Amino acid sequence: MYKRSKSTKSKSKSNETKKPLMNYFEALSSVNDIKGTFIELGFGKGVNLKEFISYMNNESITKRDIWLYDSFEGYNDPVEEDGSTFVKGGFKRPFGPAMDIRHTIKTNITVVKGFVEDTFGGSYLSDQPIAIAHMDLVSYSSTLFSLNRIHSKLAIKGIAVISGYKDYQGVKLALDKFLEDNKADYKVISKDNIAVIKRTVHKTVKGSIKRSITPRY
Ligand SMILES: C[S@@+](CC[C@H](N)C(=O)[O-])C[C@H]1O[C@@H](n2cnc3c(N)ncnc32)[C@H](O)[C@@H]1O
Repeated sequence: MYKRSKSTKSKSKSNETKKPLMNYFEALSSVNDIKGTFIELGFGKGVNLKEFISYMNNESITKRDIWLYDSFEGYNDPVEEDGSTFVKGGFKRPFGPAMDIRHTIKTNITVVKGFVEDTFGGSYLSDQPIAIAHMDLVSYSSTLFSLNRIHSKLAIKGIAVISGYKDYQGVKLALDKFLEDNKADYKVISKDNIAVIKRTVHKTVKGSIKRSITPRY
């Protein structure tokens, strides 16, 4: 979990990408004008989602329908890319708080229980694109899987916010691989521990004609 930093304009010299640091509020409020849902992947104890809902309730960010995912069984098996950053079953949290959080905001919250690799495929039934996907899944395979899944559902100028980019080697490797595979479709807004990428509009024909991509849901 990462707290809002007081300075929203600070820059880190050690940030290899030289991208500005971003806090959650800054990232989420940057897409207030983009239509779509909010997806929380890795609900955990709900600390992050509680913070995001408080911004929606005080109208400092756009209120959206929310889709909430967690295994509620903790982490899946680590793979080689994860090293020894977590163990299977770690961060197992009860289901109750996810159900309770539905009563803290007047919007639709859909709770999806299970490993995202099993659930995400058929569970996102919204007729809207995703405006914001926040993921705090910790593992290489779940992060890469989720990024690939949201890719076709993310609104143009929508964002994916990936927590733990610096803390977890699997998350870093997953995001780096995803960006390598999808260079043309994303702009990297921040690559600090909270990484933020934005879905862009392709430039085609010598960069002069912009093709608006209609996401497939
Ligand atoms: C670091 S915790 C998230 C903490 C959360 N952001 C919070 O504010 O409390 C990671 C969560 O991801 C979940 N998780 C990890 N891998 C998953 C997967 N493959 N599918 C679904 N949930 C997963 C774990 O159960 C755990 O609750």
